[in-house]
Amino acid sequence: MRFVVTAGPTREHLDPVRFLSNPSTGKMGFAVAAAAARCGSVVTLVAGPVALKTPRGVRRIDVVSAREMLAATVQVVRESLDAGEETAVIATAAVADWRPARCASRKLKKSQMTGNLRLVRNTDILKTLSRIRSHRTSLHLVGFAAETDHVLAEAARKCQEKGLDFIVANDVTERGCGFGSDTNRVAFVHPDGTVQRLPLLTKRQVASRILAHLKAKGKI
Ligand code: CTP
Repeated sequence: MRFVVTAGPTREHLDPVRFLSNPSTGKMGFAVAAAAARCGSVVTLVAGPVALKTPRGVRRIDVVSAREMLAATVQVVRESLDAGEETAVIATAAVADWRPARCASRKLKKSQMTGNLRLVRNTDILKTLSRIRSHRTSLHLVGFAAETDHVLAEAARKCQEKGLDFIVANDVTERGCGFGSDTNRVAFVHPDGTVQRLPLLTKRQVASRILAHLKAKGKI
């Protein structure tokens, strides 16, 4: 069994010293990678820029942008499937949906900037993997949905659209949850809309529960 875990934020540079990003710290993804490695699985962690130590027994690939995260993740998943390995992707990363249309190679001076920033869409990593899976059945996909509004409905929509086995939903406005916190209260939302709510747990406990849920569903 091989796990591929994406974690942390991505940075979308507009020049060497400026970027668009988000407050993800990577804690949830690193906890999932550590839990899978403790179970004896082969684990590859594709990590955006975070200040965390690599968990024991985990192979780590550092990336910066969403495009780099997409390329690294697709490559690792293809290699795993080509080797005939049962593969599960746990996508905890807070991937930027947009990037600046141009990234200047030298620092932009304010006199060169207009106050307008043109953005282009980044490719969805999970949707891309979902298309790979359509002709290979040994790929399992789990997503995350960090929401502020209509948490379960939004999670269910993403689960459907991205072709996931299930999605881990959480309300980032809730105390003790979300970016940077050591705890989280999540719910597992399935493609048929069924929901399993978990209590407030440490991210380490949430990680173990995700792996147990995959196992209970006969995915691993
Ligand atoms: N994700 C991904 N590739 C992207 C964006 C998101 O694989 N380019 C994954 C995330 O890692 C996460 C899931 O999709 O597992 C949901 O991410 P989220 O940012 O909540 O979803 P979006 O599709 O960006 O939805 P929206 O902007 O409508 O909230």
